[in-house]
Amino acid sequence: MNPLSFLTTVAVSAATAGSITGPAHAETDPNAQFTLKNAGGMEVRLAADGARITALKVPDRAGLLADVVLGHDAVDSYRTSEKKPYLGATLGRYAGRIAHGSFTLDGVTHKLAKNNGPNHNHGGLIGFDKVVWKATPGPDRVRFDYRSPASEEGYPGNLDVSVTYTLTEENELIIDYQATTDRATPVNLSNHSYFNLAGEGSESVLDHELMIYANEMLLIDDTSIPVGKIVPVADTPFDFRQPKQIGRDIDQANEQLTHGSGYDHTFVLNPNTGGSPEPAATLYEKNSGRMLQVFTDQPGLQLYTANFLDGSLTGKSGRPYLKRSAVCLETQHFPDSPNQPLFPNTILRPGDIYQTRSTYKFSVSDSAEE
Ligand code: BGC
Repeated sequence: MNPLSFLTTVAVSAATAGSITGPAHAETDPNAQFTLKNAGGMEVRLAADGARITALKVPDRAGLLADVVLGHDAVDSYRTSEKKPYLGATLGRYAGRIAHGSFTLDGVTHKLAKNNGPNHNHGGLIGFDKVVWKATPGPDRVRFDYRSPASEEGYPGNLDVSVTYTLTEENELIIDYQATTDRATPVNLSNHSYFNLAGEGSESVLDHELMIYANEMLLIDDTSIPVGKIVPVADTPFDFRQPKQIGRDIDQANEQLTHGSGYDHTFVLNPNTGGSPEPAATLYEKNSGRMLQVFTDQPGLQLYTANFLDGSLTGKSGRPYLKRSAVCLETQHFPDSPNQPLFPNTILRPGDIYQTRSTYKFSVSDSAEE
């Protein structure tokens, strides 16, 4: 199908009942944004820059839409803003930190860009969040492609990556990641959306209720690198096995919370044992009734409570983005896996296909338990 047939709003068949709007020269326009809509009114806006989510409008109990992700209206604002906290972006080639920006693979040591104190984070100085992807829009989806050249930010091998966002009639945003390489390389892709279910620009997420399907988490050092220990969450502020307000324990005296300046930790997701899969995380905001369930095939979930937003960045609503005014639920492999032999493998080899899926499903509910 010719992607340029989606120049303007195209209503598609009743079977899918979705629509997409996008620019005339989507493939070459660095500022291209696309808006997917479903029959229920949910809307997702996506930008080729950073293959990012720039808006996500979902209904509350009364059917009123609010944009529940932090971001900007103009694509350019993501580039020019001095603060670049990866709002809504695709993270890669490796989401999360790699200690000292270094790893040894098949006997060769690779040096990566250090962009986070002594460490490498989210793919380096120019990670996948800062490049323009080639966009291919379809009626209910947009596929973004990018070739990450060999030695980009220090990584070996040319990596061909695609990220496809699909909006379903069940108010799910499905993110499919795929990658292939011509030389062995670490790969770990994720999305860095900042959620506030009361609407972006609302002051805090500390009263949101969160449940995480994890009995264990990774301990980190004071530069946020996993120390290699997987520990139970029971009897710690990291116990989200039952719905709990994000703010309930966040200010407890706890070395791990000090290291992260709040929650900035990887949870080890419990394996799904058949039947219908458990959500990796459920987020609920009681005033609006909005609920977000996150499903993933990945082993980890990074919980980040926007500890480093400080109000100096202003978003779509014109309101400042304050510390803890949003929460990121990043589905991914564990940080620093290329240096940690006990963590699940993150090395992609020629001939293999990296293929993962995460789904963000929205609904309304009268309680966090549903
Ligand atoms: C990291 C944080 C970091 C944030 C924005 C999160 O994924 O874990 O430490 O500050 O991204 O860069």
